[in-house]
Amino acid sequence: MLQLNLFSNQVTFASMPSTRFQGSKRKYLPFLANLFADYEFKTCLDAFGGTGSVTHLLLSMGKDVLYNDILKANYVNAKALFIEGGMRLGVDELKSLFQKKDGVDYKQHISDIYDNIFYTKFENEQIDVITQNILSIEDEIKKSEAFYCLFQTALIKRPYNLFHRANLSMREQNVQRSFGNKKTWDTPIELHMIKFYRELQEYKAIQKPGKCYFANDDAFELRTDVDFVYIDTPYSRKRNYSETNYFNFYHFLDSLVMYYDFKSSVNTGYAHKPIYKPDQSWFSAEDEEEAFKLLLKRFSQAIVCISYRDDGYPSVERLKEILSDTHKDIRIAMADGKYVLARKGGENKEVVIIGEPISV
Ligand SMILES: C[S@@+](CC[C@H](N)C(=O)[O-])C[C@H]1O[C@@H](n2cnc3c(N)ncnc32)[C@H](O)[C@@H]1O
Repeated sequence: MLQLNLFSNQVTFASMPSTRFQGSKRKYLPFLANLFADYEFKTCLDAFGGTGSVTHLLLSMGKDVLYNDILKANYVNAKALFIEGGMRLGVDELKSLFQKKDGVDYKQHISDIYDNIFYTKFENEQIDVITQNILSIEDEIKKSEAFYCLFQTALIKRPYNLFHRANLSMREQNVQRSFGNKKTWDTPIELHMIKFYRELQEYKAIQKPGKCYFANDDAFELRTDVDFVYIDTPYSRKRNYSETNYFNFYHFLDSLVMYYDFKSSVNTGYAHKPIYKPDQSWFSAEDEEEAFKLLLKRFSQAIVCISYRDDGYPSVERLKEILSDTHKDIRIAMADGKYVLARKGGENKEVVIIGEPISV
């Protein structure tokens, strides 16, 4: 999994453990590596960081990176992956997370609130205990490593790897399936967690020359004193409609991070009991166009690189116009070759739009 790959003439880097997360750019890293190598910069921001795959690339290229994501679980995962030094959590410490500790008054928030929604009764009881044991770990790095193993396990045991539907029944039905993997869903939490522990341990043993910093903020409020900003917003195909609503997809993982406080935020009117409103948007502006205008203006001093899809809203051409108000020398590149305006049907394509600051 982690051999070194030569992806381009300039950039050599190891691969990251694969994570089951919508919109991960992991498979586009060789393409992005080639593009990034054409620009000179030292400090950068991965503003909508997700799994951190692009942070991984930038760190491997020797850049100093501020990883950011608005979701708490993503922020914790990134810390587990990118804080320097090897694995801190011992495998025995990981295994001990399953045992109740003497004298602790364990709560049952997951068992109570998510009964029959995402996991079996037994799994919910385990998640309650593991989460509270993780939260009692004093060392913040060990805590993030333990959470990483739990989050990856929680995702792999879910149909579609998401929490947007109360569909435990899908896991339990004995029917022919064209997707998913019942064996994976039914594999005990402990076995999955140990496997993810090993993957993380292997990854953390690889030295990366760049230094990583972390933020858990709204990208619209982040610091702007960086040379390069990578923008990979949730994908919209229509105005004010995001196909990939990360708040709705991954709310459950954030509930675990906020275990002692999340109950009052649960939207009980929805079967999947999200702590965020299911229609919560990634921006508070009027629409996507305004949101991009705000973001690009905010980062007008930096080289900006936007990952996009050729059928996104606003269109690539419109986004290029918006970017040209604040940036120059705009370049459009497609992961699978040259950008052509008229698409001939089929799958949508990954596009990258890059601009350099006008004022420099
Ligand atoms: C398309 S994904 C990024 C994928 C990432 N590049 C990767 O390779 O995994 C978009 C991310 O933006 C985050 N997000 C949504 N709204 C945000 C906001 N206002 N500020 C910062 N992050 C936000 C989501 O939680 C999600 O992780």
